[in-house]
Amino acid sequence: MTEILASPAVDGGDALRPVTGPRRLFIKTYGCQMNVYDSERMADVLRPLGYETTDTAEGADFVILNTCHIRERAAEKVYSELGKLREMKQDRAAAGRGAMTIAVAGCVAQAEGEEIMRRQPAVDLVVGPQAYHQLPELLTRTARARGERIGADFAPNAKFDAMTSERIGPRGVTGPTAFLTVQEGCDKFCTFCVVPYTRGAEWSRPVADILTEARALAERGVREITLLGQNVNAYNGAGADGAPSTLARLAHALAEIPGLDRLRYTTSHPNDMSADLIAAHGELDVLMPYLHLPVQSGSDRILRLMNRKHGPKTYLDVIDRIRAVRPDIAISGDFIVGFPGETDRDFEDTLTLVRQVNYASAFSFMYSPRPGTPAAAMAAQVPDAVARERLHALQALLFEQQTAFNAAQAGKTLPVLFERKGRNPGQAIGRSPYLQSVHVDNGEHLLGQIVAVQIESGQQNSLAGRIIQQKAA
Ligand code: SAH
Ligand code: SF4
Ligand code: F3S
Repeated sequence: MTEILASPAVDGGDALRPVTGPRRLFIKTYGCQMNVYDSERMADVLRPLGYETTDTAEGADFVILNTCHIRERAAEKVYSELGKLREMKQDRAAAGRGAMTIAVAGCVAQAEGEEIMRRQPAVDLVVGPQAYHQLPELLTRTARARGERIGADFAPNAKFDAMTSERIGPRGVTGPTAFLTVQEGCDKFCTFCVVPYTRGAEWSRPVADILTEARALAERGVREITLLGQNVNAYNGAGADGAPSTLARLAHALAEIPGLDRLRYTTSHPNDMSADLIAAHGELDVLMPYLHLPVQSGSDRILRLMNRKHGPKTYLDVIDRIRAVRPDIAISGDFIVGFPGETDRDFEDTLTLVRQVNYASAFSFMYSPRPGTPAAAMAAQVPDAVARERLHALQALLFEQQTAFNAAQAGKTLPVLFERKGRNPGQAIGRSPYLQSVHVDNGEHLLGQIVAVQIESGQQNSLAGRIIQQKAA
């Protein structure tokens, strides 16, 4: 496991030049919601140095790519983006407009470390997911002690301790929804997955810290919080008495916060869907009726090769139990097709499981061999053409289910939290409790509010509706 989490380049930029106006910071985020959260927190830690975020790399003094290593394509995108940034950096220097500092953060940074700077010398800094609270210090060192290397181990506690619970990033200020990381890392070691290597061991934040951060968000007008973790339902952070809590207990505590009307959590592992968490879906109105529960495959044999430690039966049993307490719950999942050794028969098992579950939405991927993971070395890698064909067949079924789920909302009245303006004048877009996008006309004045909407139609990716009443809630 690489230990290098942060290493200033030999030739840093002038990110610490005297402030003559706000420094412009551009962060591009790849990958999962945890990276979205991390990008917001990076903006938070850099704000005291005078950095203001912009939404383009053009003209930025400091550019951070917050990267994802989950599939090969995700990692390669970073290098093509770095190629473009290099040209921008050179043009800027040639025009005498000062230097641009480039940092690579996130999971590619963790997995590839200094190799990134060898492949793309325009990169000034490499900072892993557990070290970004050190960005101000790293920038200082880049400027002062060029070439110095900083090593750090996985220490999410140090990271969270170093940051205040105050959220000053753009999402918390302007939007009614926010992400809040409560758990990091993964001990599951699915044989295809890089996350245990890029994010380290499972670790949970203490309950009190999470409550402080959530209260601050609610005070800023946030109505919905999505609790994040690579295995969020394995959450076991210390409670008030120091004893380990559970995600269900945390949800009960968060439900007490005034103004916080909606709670979600992602991503969950089937083996960590504990009885109290399932029960919470029947007890807590704030817990939205949506569960993202990746299964990866419907084949017992493939699940064993994946080291998932659950079979299709365990998964289906969890779904049954949660539907028993919350019959309308929307189920979502992740799938991988073309895992080494997957036969037509195994793939058929996946289609069967999908038919049994009936998904409201899902993400499906072609298996991508990742360096250093056990599956990459397995015999019987499935040819691309076969995997692609399976992906198309799976997606056709999943889209059919998703469209049917959305179409079935027509005629219902759903509470919608409006988040942003739509493309047409007056149009507003929000989310239903089931996480569907809902569009209404003449709703622009309702941003940030939860409003009753009569659903008129449902398509594959969204619902259309009409405001029938403004709820007091
Ligand atoms: N912690 C979550 C999600 C991890 S990554 C979980 O356990 O479910 C998100 C999704 O990416 C995974 O659920 C999986 O479907 C997909 N994925 C991970 N590694 C992959 C690989 N090597 N190739 C293709 N898809 C992959
Ligand atoms: Fe990856 Fe498996 Fe951990 Fe999810 S549970 S992050 S798929 S190793
Ligand atoms: Fe990607 Fe890292 Fe998230 S590999 S999916 S950004 S945990």
